[in-house]
Amino acid sequence: MKIEEFLETVPQNVISGEDVQLSDKSFREIFSFVELGENDNFYHLGCGDGKGVAIAIDEFNVKKGIGIDNNNQKIIQAKKGSGEFLCKDIEDSDFSDATVILFWFADEKIIKNMMNKFGTLNPGTKIITIWGPLPDCIPQKVSFPYILNTVPFKKANSLQEQLLSVFGVKCIDFVTAWEFAERYTKAIGEPKVKNDRFLTIIQTLVIWINAKNLGVACREEIPESIKTYIDIMKIHFDIDFEHLLKD
Ligand SMILES: C[S@@+](CC[C@H](N)C(=O)[O-])C[C@H]1O[C@@H](n2cnc3c(N)ncnc32)[C@H](O)[C@@H]1O
Repeated sequence: MKIEEFLETVPQNVISGEDVQLSDKSFREIFSFVELGENDNFYHLGCGDGKGVAIAIDEFNVKKGIGIDNNNQKIIQAKKGSGEFLCKDIEDSDFSDATVILFWFADEKIIKNMMNKFGTLNPGTKIITIWGPLPDCIPQKVSFPYILNTVPFKKANSLQEQLLSVFGVKCIDFVTAWEFAERYTKAIGEPKVKNDRFLTIIQTLVIWINAKNLGVACREEIPESIKTYIDIMKIHFDIDFEHLLKD
C-alpha cells in the first residue's frame, strides 16, 4: 500500500492536527526557548484545551494570556484553567497587542491568510512555529523543531538559505533527515511513546524524498540507508515510498 493509503487508515483528526495537543513538557520547552516572561502578552492560536495558556500564566507569569480556538467544546474545557479564552476563527481575531504568539498550523491556506495579519503586528512580535518557519522567511532563532519568527520578517532569497537557517546545513543527507525527524518526534511526542522508531523512519523518508524532489538533497543517488529503510517499510510493513521519488 502507498504511504498515502496507510495515512488514510490513521484517525483523520490526528493527521490534520485538529486534535493534536502539545504536552506540558513541550509548552515549557517552547516558553523557555522564547524567554516568555512577565512583560508578555501571550496568545495561543488554536489553543485546544488551553493548557499552554495556563502554563504561560501560572509558570511564566505573563502579563496577559489569551487562547483562541474555533471549537466550542475545547474552549469550554480551556475556561476551567487560567487565562482568557475566545471561541473564534483565528483569521477573524484581533491579537494586535500580542508580544508572543504560538501558531502551530500545517494547513497552507490558513498559514497564507495569516501571513497578512502577522505582517502588520508590532515590530518585535515573536511568532513561534513548530517544524517549519513562516513561508519564505528566515527565522530569528531555531531550537528544532521550535522556530522563532520575529516581525518584521526577513525574506529568504532561496530554499537553500532557508534550509541553512533551520537545519544548519545547505543540503539534506540521510543523517540530517534522521536527526531532525527524531528531534521532532521526541519534542512533540509523549515521553515514553512506544512506536517512535517507526515514526522516525517514516518522517526520515518523507524528509529525504521531499528534499530530493525539491533539489536540495546532497546527492542525486539514493543513499544506501534510505534504500534500506524503503525496503524495510515495503517488506515488513507493506508501506510503499518509492512512487514518491520523482525522476
Ligand atoms: C494545533 S492546531 C492545528 C490544526 C490545523 N488543522 C493544522 O493546520 O494543523 C489545532 C487546534 O486549532 C483549532 N483550530 C483549527 N482551525 C482553526 C481556526 N481556523 N481558528 C481557530 N482555531 C482553529 C482546532 O480546534 C484545534 O484545537
